[in-house]
Amino acid sequence: MAQLLNVEDYRRRARSALPRLVFDYIDGGAEDERCMQRNRDALEALPLIPECLRDTSKVDIGIELFGRRWRAPFGIAPIGLAGLVRPRADALLAAAAQAAGVPFILSTASNTRIEDVRNAAPDAALWMQLYVMGERSIAERIVRRARNAGFEALVLTVDVPVSGLRERDLRHGFRVPMRLTPGTVLDMARHPAWLLRLAGGGMPQFANLLPDEDDGAPVSAQTQAALLSRAMDRTLTWDSLGWLRRLWDGPLLVKGLLGAEDARRALRHGADGIVVSNHGGRQLDAAPATIAALPAMLDAVGGRIPVLVDSGMRRGSDIVKALALGASAALVGRAPVYGLACGGEQGALSVLQLLAQETERTMTLLGASRVGELGRRHVEIHAPRS
Ligand code: FNR
Repeated sequence: MAQLLNVEDYRRRARSALPRLVFDYIDGGAEDERCMQRNRDALEALPLIPECLRDTSKVDIGIELFGRRWRAPFGIAPIGLAGLVRPRADALLAAAAQAAGVPFILSTASNTRIEDVRNAAPDAALWMQLYVMGERSIAERIVRRARNAGFEALVLTVDVPVSGLRERDLRHGFRVPMRLTPGTVLDMARHPAWLLRLAGGGMPQFANLLPDEDDGAPVSAQTQAALLSRAMDRTLTWDSLGWLRRLWDGPLLVKGLLGAEDARRALRHGADGIVVSNHGGRQLDAAPATIAALPAMLDAVGGRIPVLVDSGMRRGSDIVKALALGASAALVGRAPVYGLACGGEQGALSVLQLLAQETERTMTLLGASRVGELGRRHVEIHAPRS
């Protein structure tokens, strides 16, 4: 993988390695993909201002968050249906996160069982992402299993009351139920391994939504239909945080917030952290870039709980920009999945290492030897007046 120098190189390689339907599912966004572009444009438009002649003989990019040391200031965001890319994708990503010393967030819509992900990464900081779909007992069961498997934090995703309109997926006929176009089937035929999986019934299932053998409780036909179409429980409100709080005594984060008022609501309802996210541009296409929304969110929270951010991070310098504005950490979604598509667990790990190296080099160029030394002076051309 010597010639893969940056995340965009991995993305291009992933594009040729995957059937177009799978690549577009990972790579695509909602509607006109303006939000996706806005994330990139806003990050690129934000310059970093170096401070020179500072001792950077040792640069430490590690952070401490929720009682854990992270070797780099980012974790892997939850990715549903990652199993389309590779069998056991969730377990491979978790193992890569363990090797890189960063957290991995397992999606509710994952294709590997919670317990199997833990076995694949026994020492990793694993977090569980929660979608509430169908009967509440399904979410309760997921939370219980995550706790028993030693998952350390629960992340409630709140920006999907309904799935964003992903037009690339619709064009391929990638929807529930699947209605593949002839072009898509032809394209898949060029990827025999993937076709074999399809023929062998090895297509990924939602491994954690349906009850485990030992869980017993039957799922109603109505709920099964809701799960298949990924229909969310739209009766969920801020008060539902209390319900989760009773089930989960570890850190509880809310992911998918973009407005300062929602940041304050999360605080009031007892969240232990928030993730400023527009779902990588896959939900509300008119949503703001997260790096643009971040300062107001940080001001609203006022340092009382950690604020994480994701969407569009492709370079270590993007992560440094978020940290300089005041984020506690960043999450990366597609980047490690491009790595996974190119080279399995090792490919995902290579992307994480690449981002860590870029983060370290950027901090060195800024004259910051610890993450705590980054500040808004690194992103503000005009010095703040106070
Ligand atoms: C996602 N994301 C996501 N988020 C979540 O909370 N639960 C999920 O199941 C998924 N599934 C998912 C699938 C795919 C293919 C993508 C690309 C994204 C959103 C994800 O956690 C994260 O917010 C974004 O991916 C961040 O943007 P970047 O880093 O991909 O640009």
